[in-house]
Amino acid sequence: MAKVIVVTSGKGGVGKTTSSAAIGTGLAVKGYKTVIVDFDIGLRNLDLIMGCERRVVYDFVNVINGESNLNQALIKDKRVEKLFILPASQTRDKDALTKEGVERVLNELKQEFDFIICDSPAGIEAGAMMALYFADEAIVTTNPEVSSVRDSDRILGILHSKSKRAEEGLDGVKEHLLLTRYNPERVEKGEMLSVEDVQDILAIDLLGVIPESPSVLSASNSGQPVILDIDSDAGKAYQDTIDRLLGEEIDYRFLQVRKKGILKRIFGG
Ligand SMILES: Nc1ncnc2c1ncn2[C@@H]1O[C@H](COP(=O)(O)OP(=O)(O)O)[C@@H](O)[C@H]1O
Ligand SMILES: [Mg+2]
Repeated sequence: MAKVIVVTSGKGGVGKTTSSAAIGTGLAVKGYKTVIVDFDIGLRNLDLIMGCERRVVYDFVNVINGESNLNQALIKDKRVEKLFILPASQTRDKDALTKEGVERVLNELKQEFDFIICDSPAGIEAGAMMALYFADEAIVTTNPEVSSVRDSDRILGILHSKSKRAEEGLDGVKEHLLLTRYNPERVEKGEMLSVEDVQDILAIDLLGVIPESPSVLSASNSGQPVILDIDSDAGKAYQDTIDRLLGEEIDYRFLQVRKKGILKRIFGG
């Protein structure tokens, strides 16, 4: 059975697109046929982060409007077998996504794919609602700061009341917490919330903690999802996240401040 997973947050700039790219890629690496769908109409970030922006011909909105079929719009990743991207449109208005249209495209994708990852736009307006409405599971992406946690809490409320599963009285959307841009030094100094703080407030299962890492920016600049950078902390943390999503129990890494080596302690750095 195909699973529809929305990567959502409420707040912008917390790492949804980075996480959608990493998680979609990680699932495909594990052998699951996976498509990442960009719901952020107008921004079109996903294809940049995936490094396929020059290969976009048709997009999600074209498919909804019947201007192309799904296979014309899907972009097959060149690195990972079984990985596809359905890009967003850059030009059209945000109301281009209709519930009927989105449902039709998702149903068609479900015939072919194991996982459908929906990269949500920020906010709680139409686009974000559309991205989460059909979800079976939600990865609530949150930064360890009060404003982000507050917005994630609002999104959880919406998942409980406004998702299709909620409206139809089915089992609720399965919610996972993904804490991104985690910086143990700043947590220790009391400048940021700790994992425990965020868990206490949101009270949903923890799926992963991704450290703040410069490798994320260099990965996105080179159009390569950071999970493929297997030596980076962020890449490793996303790999752990995939294993947990697939049901394994994996210890958490990168939660503690790293002790500096003797040279750095003497000479700084
Ligand atoms: N773990 C991380 N470490 C450092 N920077 C990150 C991390 N995750 C995301 N970023 C940066 O944060 C910014 C927003 O990320 P993005 O994935 O576009 O967020 P969203 O889709 O939620 O708006 C980008 O510049 C991205 O490179
Ligand atoms: Mg985004």
